Amino acid sequence: MNDAPIGVFDSGIGGLTVVAAIMHALPHERVVYVGDTARVPYGPKSPETVVRYSRQIATWLLEQQVKAIVIACNTATAHALELLQRECPVPVIGVVQPGARAAVRATRNARIGVIGTSGTINSGAYHRAIASLAPDATVFGAACPLFVPLVEEGWVDHPATRLIAETYLHAMRDAHVDTLVLGCTHYPLLAPIIADVVGRDVTLVDSAAETANALRDALQDRAIATSAIEGAPVHRFIATDAPDTFRRVGQRFIGPVLDSVETTVFA
Ligand code: DGL
Repeated sequence: MNDAPIGVFDSGIGGLTVVAAIMHALPHERVVYVGDTARVPYGPKSPETVVRYSRQIATWLLEQQVKAIVIACNTATAHALELLQRECPVPVIGVVQPGARAAVRATRNARIGVIGTSGTINSGAYHRAIASLAPDATVFGAACPLFVPLVEEGWVDHPATRLIAETYLHAMRDAHVDTLVLGCTHYPLLAPIIADVVGRDVTLVDSAAETANALRDALQDRAIATSAIEGAPVHRFIATDAPDTFRRVGQRFIGPVLDSVETTVFA
């Protein structure tokens, strides 16, 4: 038993979708969340830069005495998961493997689409994760770089977003995928438009719930889950810039539990 908090980080606010899933699956655990709003987006940045940022945040989280780290960002998972797993003295969980597992479970025709940032798709991380679980599956990847700014603008149901989704996703329709991994923190907010474009019969995989389950398993395996507590746990939310915007937009992801935001700076 260990009452230390869980560290979670993302390039910005999108990883709050993973925090919501963690709060649901592990209601007694405290979360310390870092959103790197000063340096978002990670999607178009080089692997070296994303690794450097991820290392800085993981180091800071370890200083807060976290007992596990969840990389809620697909791009950071794609580039930095293995390195942080080697370097950190606590379990480090990413979102790619859980998403791949859910996709392999869902597919019936072994044709799986993956959408994400350019960094995530170019890294091949989902392709490798799916191949390791289902060597016969065919994986189709598509980078959708404009989706993140559209979500940040709140254009989740805008005609321009629909047009862009059609441009990005027609190849998925032509490829007859029956399962599509939403391999980016922001894409679950576009799920209704994405489902309209690819067809309602395509299963959309959001890795958040599966990642929370992987965290729960990791805590149980190591016997470091929190004991039941009185009242609701107190979470901390840290942004590296613009905390007011983080709070306002973040509440769209997670609701009123996000009532105060601290700031910190990574040199
Ligand atoms: N959090 C990123 C991801 O899941 C999306 C936003 C960004 O590009 O930083 O890949």
